[in-house]
Amino acid sequence: MSEVARALSERGELVLRRRAGDGALELRVNGVFVMDDRETSSEELLALVALRGSPSRLLVGGLGLGYTVRTLLADDGVREVVVAEIEPELVQWMRDGLVPSVLDDPRVSVVVGDVRDAVGLEQPGSLDGILLDVDNGPDFLVYDENAAIYESSFLALCKEKLRADGVLTVWSSSESSALETAVRAVFGRCEVRPVPVELQGRDETYYVYQASS
Ligand SMILES: C[S@@+](CC[C@H](N)C(=O)[O-])C[C@H]1O[C@@H](n2cnc3c(N)ncnc32)[C@H](O)[C@@H]1O
Repeated sequence: MSEVARALSERGELVLRRRAGDGALELRVNGVFVMDDRETSSEELLALVALRGSPSRLLVGGLGLGYTVRTLLADDGVREVVVAEIEPELVQWMRDGLVPSVLDDPRVSVVVGDVRDAVGLEQPGSLDGILLDVDNGPDFLVYDENAAIYESSFLALCKEKLRADGVLTVWSSSESSALETAVRAVFGRCEVRPVPVELQGRDETYYVYQASS
């Protein structure tokens, strides 16, 4: 294991490291595995689901290693992607080239801060999609403050900022009936997509929750 970068923020310790065995780049927060660059299918699916509505303007929270944003940018119909990322160091690491960058694309703008504030600043009906992948999901939080992101009052704010037929997608590392219920309460329906993944030799399932306004 070799360390690529380390930073201390208000929320704790952020580490970017390269694994010895498979050479994967791995992001950890407060010692907890967040993601790597080997198994990125669920981060990409989060975007692919949102792209089905031919969106033009989307908001993504958070940046991570950039796979969700990169998948959106591969679609020529996408004109603007606002990315909310709470950790300034992570944005800087990408700007410095420690992580392959998605920030050079002129369609991308970064808001360094909480995705709840970034969504709050948007005009009603101004977004075609909101994609939320800021934590491990409601049941395995890295940051306790993120619990509110999976609750109905914030989901209702998201709905207000989406245009008619705009899409909400939410990533979770585990199946959560509370999240499904909250999405359904706000949007009237919720599709749950299990994504089988292989994590360093282990079979796991991640989940993408999806609803339209
Ligand atoms: C799992 S990663 C996102 C992975 C991303 N989908 C990708 O494709 O690489 C979660 C990211 O959300 C950020 N984050 C955590 N809480 C946040 C919040 N409340 N607002 C904005 N970003 C947040 C973390 O710093 C981290 O970069």
